[in-house]
Amino acid sequence: MDAYLAIVSIRVVRDYTSDPISDAALNRMLQAGRATGSSRNRQAWLFYVVRNPETLNRLADCVFAPDNVRGCQLAIAIVITGKSSFDGGRAAQNMALAAWTDGIGTCPNSTRDIDEARRVLGITEDLSIATILSVGYPAAAISPKDNNPEAILSRIDRKPLEEITRFLD
Ligand SMILES: Cc1cc2nc3c(=O)[nH]c(=O)nc-3n(C[C@H](O)[C@H](O)[C@H](O)COP(=O)(O)O)c2cc1C
Repeated sequence: MDAYLAIVSIRVVRDYTSDPISDAALNRMLQAGRATGSSRNRQAWLFYVVRNPETLNRLADCVFAPDNVRGCQLAIAIVITGKSSFDGGRAAQNMALAAWTDGIGTCPNSTRDIDEARRVLGITEDLSIATILSVGYPAAAISPKDNNPEAILSRIDRKPLEEITRFLD
């Protein structure tokens, strides 16, 4: 899958199969996060991988849509050690795209109970959580299988380009 197709075709996946994520696939996601550029190349992030079902359950109770995390194979919390949550968002999207090209679905989960999430992850108050990616193979086939970016863009649930773009002279 080329990069443009991956970018326009990626959708969040909230329901997952029980198929495990291989170490190789997880490593590709983590390397994609690691490779992400950041403000002044500070790389002010840590990636917390949660696989233990009991810990996933506790983490699920900290997000707005608990079922996403309860049903996933693993979760990756992108923890920000500096100030730029923009950097964390970029790392999360790169991880999601790396997963997507391997046929793996992800969903960013926003944290509802930040204090409890910090306790579950074992991180201190000065650290923030950019997002918690839930990860797993999609329960429903990602269909229609379409390899044509233009076709995807024509039916995508997004505002029209004319509405969101301003060309300045
Ligand atoms: C910053 C951010 C936070 C999000 N938080 C949640 C969330 O807490 N729970 C959830 O189910 N989806 C969450 N999402 C997923 C969005 O709802 C989803 O991307 C949007 O509805 C568009 O769906 P699509 O990407 O499949 O087209 C989040 C997405 C972003 C970018």
